[in-house]
Amino acid sequence: MDQNILKQQAAEAALAYLPHDGIIGVGTGSTVNFFIDALASIKGRFEGAASSSEASSERLKAHGIQVVDLNAAGELDVYVDGADESNRHLQLIKGGGGALTREKIIAAASKKFICIADQSKLVDVLGGFPLPVEVIPMARSYVARELVKLGGRPVLREGFTTDNGNQILDVHDLEIMEPARFEMMVNQIVGVVTVGIFANRPADVLILGSEKGPQVIKLD
Ligand code: 5RP
Repeated sequence: MDQNILKQQAAEAALAYLPHDGIIGVGTGSTVNFFIDALASIKGRFEGAASSSEASSERLKAHGIQVVDLNAAGELDVYVDGADESNRHLQLIKGGGGALTREKIIAAASKKFICIADQSKLVDVLGGFPLPVEVIPMARSYVARELVKLGGRPVLREGFTTDNGNQILDVHDLEIMEPARFEMMVNQIVGVVTVGIFANRPADVLILGSEKGPQVIKLD
């Protein structure tokens, strides 16, 4: 089955988890684009959205959905976002689209994190997808050397600048056996803005588009 159909299926299934009012947290990526399009069909039901990227903000506004500054929104009931990988504990790798910092901020500021993806994103061990790490540009080489010490092979994402004006190192060759610990270790490196492991704040619900329809995994 076409991957886009599975992404759209997961995105539309997420509508059932939305509150009946307030502000909705919205992530970034091709799966989230399907979610934003679906959100437009119920836009009278909520006040607006707090967005994790300029790209998502533009798409939301194009649908006539108000984009609200997170500082003005308070705690959000629900955040919906995609992922590059998830394990069965709903610990994620995110940042393939480079929006990991704002995504982590909105996830932290939300009561419930609903992750939407096609079934190919479910893995046993995180790390097959190169781990994105957002870095302050002047710290790039130092951080890369520290990441090599942790067993990775960092590669600069050429020609890419984040919405925050920083750069991304994509770290290859990792097999992340203890995601929460590894997240904290990378966070300790001076110059790292955000590491794309979402393990200390995992998703609460994972909706996977599949040939059999949406499969839902929830944390106990
Ligand atoms: C962006 C992200 C995305 O959620 C992740 O890359 C998944 O993208 P897609 O839905 O296009 O597969 O973390 O920074």
